[in-house]
Amino acid sequence: MTSREIRQKFLKFFEKRGHKIVSSSSLVPKDDPSVLLTTAGMQQFKPYYMGNKDPIKDFGTKRTTSIQKSFRTPDIDEVGDESHLTFFEMLGNFSFGDYFKEDAIKWGWEFITEELKISPERCHVSVFAGDPSTSSGQAVPEDKESKKIWKSLGLADDKIKKAGRKDNFWGPTGSEGPCGPTSEIYVDGLEIWNLVFNEYYCHADKTLEPLKQNGIDTGMGFERLAMVSQSAPTVFETDLFLPLVQIIPHKEILNETKAVRIIADHIRGATFLIADGVLPSNVERGYILRRILRRAIRYGKVLKLDKNFLIPLSQKVIEMYKEFYPELSVKREDILTVIEKEEEKFSKTLENGLKELGKILVAKADKIISGKEAFYLYESYGFPMELTREIATEKRFAIDETGWEIAFKEHQEISRAGAEKKFGGHGIAEITNHKSQITNSDAGKITRLHTATHLLHQALHDILGQEAEVRQMGSDINAERTRFDFTFPRKLFSEEINKIEEVVNKKIKLDLPVFNKKMNKEDAIRLGARAFFKEKYPDEVNVYSIGDPDPSKAYSKELCGGPHVDSTGEIGYFKIIKEESSSAGVRRIRAIIE
Ligand code: ALA
Repeated sequence: MTSREIRQKFLKFFEKRGHKIVSSSSLVPKDDPSVLLTTAGMQQFKPYYMGNKDPIKDFGTKRTTSIQKSFRTPDIDEVGDESHLTFFEMLGNFSFGDYFKEDAIKWGWEFITEELKISPERCHVSVFAGDPSTSSGQAVPEDKESKKIWKSLGLADDKIKKAGRKDNFWGPTGSEGPCGPTSEIYVDGLEIWNLVFNEYYCHADKTLEPLKQNGIDTGMGFERLAMVSQSAPTVFETDLFLPLVQIIPHKEILNETKAVRIIADHIRGATFLIADGVLPSNVERGYILRRILRRAIRYGKVLKLDKNFLIPLSQKVIEMYKEFYPELSVKREDILTVIEKEEEKFSKTLENGLKELGKILVAKADKIISGKEAFYLYESYGFPMELTREIATEKRFAIDETGWEIAFKEHQEISRAGAEKKFGGHGIAEITNHKSQITNSDAGKITRLHTATHLLHQALHDILGQEAEVRQMGSDINAERTRFDFTFPRKLFSEEINKIEEVVNKKIKLDLPVFNKKMNKEDAIRLGARAFFKEKYPDEVNVYSIGDPDPSKAYSKELCGGPHVDSTGEIGYFKIIKEESSSAGVRRIRAIIE
């Protein structure tokens, strides 16, 4: 069955069952700064699960269906095998407080076995085994109901596998949102369809709260479905890829096949990202785009393809998909220009870097690239470290990763020492300015309070941000306490204060590492780093991220000159001692650490 037929069949199947067909949303999520790119069909429907928006008003029904453009980076290194992709399309059906497990499972099975006529012999399913104590200490019970439903559809016990939290519990996307146990359908051992039973809301601090209404969120990888339905050995041999793969000249040998798959995946993803307004840069979405374009260019070298080889490939992607995604036609010129420019820019870097790396490799009998050598390529040639890693792996060389980290850190220290100190508006300049007048233990306490203030700032957003904008209005730290002013229209309830304390103390208990990185101011802001609007920052700023070196993944990220503790465990117990009004619409919190 052609992919065009599958598209039609899927949407019609669920339309017939009362679902409204909704177009794919952009790969750049709207109104959800907690996620970089759209990774699932449910993302555009998040408010309907939570009851914050009325599906009847917007869709005339509580059921929707879509084919969603999705992009996932964690699989990037797997691309090149039979089925992993970065960009893919996801077929889904959704229920917001309407039907639940029984219909979702029944229809899933009917679609696969009756509409697509995939033999039940080729299928097995999985259900949630239960989790006695989750990381947040909350147990989630086994999903016995789904097992019963699968049995009633004729599946034998040995076709129904059980798995735990890692495999059969999904969500949330970003820092919080709906989530729940899942049941998955496999064909020929390949996971095809994930049926999520949204029963919980996962809060930013990872606690689960039952949703007021149950929801259904399903996602089926279109390319994988095409693969099993067209009996293709890999996704690249389905009609979703073949016309593209066929115009990439290559020999049928292992390393060339892998290069072709990577190029095909990456050029398709890049074309769709640019169509949704992403431009290559060194941070967040722009970096993802840059990375896949540069990787594609590098694999083009493996195949000895001509300069600008990506242009005809992107044109092919546009031609293949424009009928379903008209934005590709609208943005055609932009897409091709961006790709051409990036290719031009990177080709020189690549050429010089490869030459230099080649020199390093021939000189090495021990087959180890030192940290200094890797850093030299990065610093002097702009040669991306992941490329050095990839090439090293291919040539069976090892890299001294610790040495690389030390070289990288040393470089950071040097640039930090030379830069102007900035204090992110926390008013703790006294640490550096009057160091001689305060004792070491005071300085240590101020540093701990400083990091605690960042956690507090983020926790305020987590707990109060849904209701009104929380904006820092001022802050002052001394060795006794931290004082933090922020916009909020009313007095906080004592439950809210408890919750804020709880979140901060949880983050302290997790002993999250604290990272600090120099970056361009606009990039930092785009990555979601918090800034204090009264402060004037230079173009290059220092960003402190708690929990992950990548600010977009970190729990807290702020423009700030520091100093901070190395990990949150050093802070101690955090306690709010007072919450009061500071001025109209501004609240003031005083907190201490013990
Ligand atoms: N949202 C679920 C997933 O992405 C269906 O797997």
